[in-house]
Amino acid sequence: MIFKLNLVNCLLSCIFFSSVNSSFCFWNTGCPYKHFANKTPYNSVRGDIRDSVINVKGCEPISVWALYGHGKRYPNNYYAQKMEDAVIIRNYLQESQDRGNCSLCAQDVENLINWPTDKKLFKGLNELSDEGYQEMLGLGRRLRKVFPNLLGDLQEGEYTFKPTTGDKIEDSARAFVEGIGNTRLDLDKAKQDVMTSLATCEKYQKEVKANSKTYEEAAKYQRSSEYLVTKDRIQRRTGLDIVLTEENVTALYDLCRYTWSEIGNKPSPWCALFTSEDLQVLEYLEDLKHYYRSGYGTPLNKIFGHIPLKDLLKGFQEAKDGTGKKITAYFSHGTAVDMTITALGIFKDEKPLTGEKRNRNRKWRSSKLSSFSANIMAVLSKCDKDETTDYNVVFYLNEEPIKTICNEAICPWTEFEEKMQQYRDTKIDVCVLD
Ligand SMILES: *[C@@H]1O[C@H](CO)[C@@H](O)[C@H](O)[C@H]1NC(C)=O
Ligand SMILES: *[C@@H]1O[C@H](CO)[C@@H](O)[C@H](O)[C@H]1NC(C)=O
Repeated sequence: MIFKLNLVNCLLSCIFFSSVNSSFCFWNTGCPYKHFANKTPYNSVRGDIRDSVINVKGCEPISVWALYGHGKRYPNNYYAQKMEDAVIIRNYLQESQDRGNCSLCAQDVENLINWPTDKKLFKGLNELSDEGYQEMLGLGRRLRKVFPNLLGDLQEGEYTFKPTTGDKIEDSARAFVEGIGNTRLDLDKAKQDVMTSLATCEKYQKEVKANSKTYEEAAKYQRSSEYLVTKDRIQRRTGLDIVLTEENVTALYDLCRYTWSEIGNKPSPWCALFTSEDLQVLEYLEDLKHYYRSGYGTPLNKIFGHIPLKDLLKGFQEAKDGTGKKITAYFSHGTAVDMTITALGIFKDEKPLTGEKRNRNRKWRSSKLSSFSANIMAVLSKCDKDETTDYNVVFYLNEEPIKTICNEAICPWTEFEEKMQQYRDTKIDVCVLD
């Protein structure tokens, strides 16, 4: 409710101020654009399971299954280097402003000049950041709060917390378990397991991720007039002497995205180089990449997504028979979450996304689907009514119920089983590991 009021205030103040002051300042805008494709901080897009959890009268949750992408991380070596090189641009910007060639607001330039470098940012760590740690910790805490009976006193054999390899992923899992609030809980040893390593399996790497065809639509979009206008607008607003290349634009966009802190509610001054429209264009470019790299754009992605769903069905059948876990949580890459969404057939646009034209009302939005710490969760409940026992399943994406799988987001057991049946015979050898 508070959130909704804020949103209204925000919209009102934007409309009001834009008529008073026509020059766009980033520092005083009430509602900066916060969607940065898969580099979006979780807090910018998440719901809250404490408010959104669906409780059906007479039902008690008996098992949770979830798949988590890792929390916010530092950039890898390659991108960190580009970003570090691009920092000098703030000095050029100052010169451009002194010459009178820069149309950014004075305060925005000052904030950029005063921007303190996070020492870890350019080290190419590719590790979980403090914010990422907080994201995962919060997820664990909220879940525990909502299911105190189920998760309050987990004993050996009643849970599985399984990370794939990679420090940022193991640390994410650790933060989550810390949030659950029981220090005796063990993580499974991190390993390249079929279920959690979809993003690293050889067939995927070869046929999708490293296949130039995957990026054709994104490349096409970079030649579209819309993208070129955005690039030109950045050049003109900054009034820089140097001609910005695509690589420079990407580095500046990364500086904006990675240094945005949503936990501290601190927008990044680097984002002042972009208008909201620019950010939406850059977001679409990223969406195109994700659509083909881990979503509907490439048929193989859906097949990988069958693997987690097969595991989910099996896990809940066992829980129903009394031999399952109270919680099964996998920790992986956002890619795995995208693939699972694709296998479920949700957030699917009628027409494929293309580089020709940006679909402003598209359902496929990597900012919402595979932000940092993105997650998909299913909760199995047991319902005792009169003399009969029944079960239902509710799916959640980023702590909001998914309403498009079953009516009112509640899947009666038979409907759940029917929908999942198709994944039962999924061959996991589709994913050959090195
Ligand atoms: C801009 O990009 C070019 C390559 O496209 C690179 O050589 C140059 O160092 C970049 N400039 C800055 C300031 O990052
Ligand atoms: C800066 O402004 C001057 C005077 O308006 C103009 O001649 C020059 O081309 C501009 N430089 C850039 C890089 O836009």
